[in-house]
Amino acid sequence: MPTALVLGASRGLGLEFARQYLAEGWTVYATHRSEPDRVRLRDLGAHTLKLDVLDADDLAGLAWQLESERLDVVVINAGVYGPRSSHLQQPPATEDFDLVMRTNVLAPMRLVPRLAPMLGPARGTLAFVSSRMGSISAAGASHGMLYRVSKAAENMVAKLAHVELSPLGVRVLALHPGWVRTDMGGPNAEVDVPASIAGMRRVIADATAYPAGGFYDYRGQSLAW
Ligand SMILES: NC(=O)c1ccc[n+]([C@@H]2O[C@H](COP(=O)([O-])OP(=O)(O)OC[C@H]3O[C@@H](n4cnc5c(N)ncnc54)[C@H](OP(=O)(O)O)[C@@H]3O)[C@@H](O)[C@H]2O)c1
Repeated sequence: MPTALVLGASRGLGLEFARQYLAEGWTVYATHRSEPDRVRLRDLGAHTLKLDVLDADDLAGLAWQLESERLDVVVINAGVYGPRSSHLQQPPATEDFDLVMRTNVLAPMRLVPRLAPMLGPARGTLAFVSSRMGSISAAGASHGMLYRVSKAAENMVAKLAHVELSPLGVRVLALHPGWVRTDMGGPNAEVDVPASIAGMRRVIADATAYPAGGFYDYRGQSLAW
């Protein structure tokens, strides 16, 4: 059975990625930050790994623990939204900027080279859980400015990962999960978590319909960068 690594699997979309891959019999490595989350993921059947993506030692430890693994799918899912109201007239505080950019951009940049060696042998898929809000072409409002800027930058990380990793046979996708009812998306969001994850898993699984280097939503629709 294939193996997946889900980064940021404690709740929301990451937890459901882990659940659905486990339900299909995959081997799942799932990362968490707290002990209760470790226990919950272990009880689901996942191999658990402690990872705060802001912690350089954790990142090094993750790569070391997975060194001899062959990963079919890696999902870079951990993310934060930051201030709800930021827009051009209301620039973000430095600490908000640092948290959002370090989590959504710096961490993926550090993860790609560490995880590429485990994806190459399986000719696996690296999926970034990005957002439609990171589309520069589709930008039509400035609320959530910091988050939008961070997801646009994360999309560039995905695109460059594609440039670097496609010669090794690794497929790289940026995915928009929809506006989903999680802690981040809130209770009024349009899509429920299982539907979003089932859709993104379909895109990840079908290399013919959704080739490398693409930006797709959970229904498989191509998005403009
Ligand atoms: N929900 C939506 O509508 C929506 C739409 C577009 C894109 N997205 C993207 O989808 C991804 C998941 O979002 P979600 O809705 O599931 O959000 P969520 O419910 O707020 O969950 C966020 C996840 O990221 C983890 N995380 C945050 N900072 C971390 C860090 N420093 N180190 C390790 N893990 C960290 C959290 O772990 P802890 O539990 O330890 O905090 C949690 O597992 C994000 O990248 C988000 O930008 C979501």
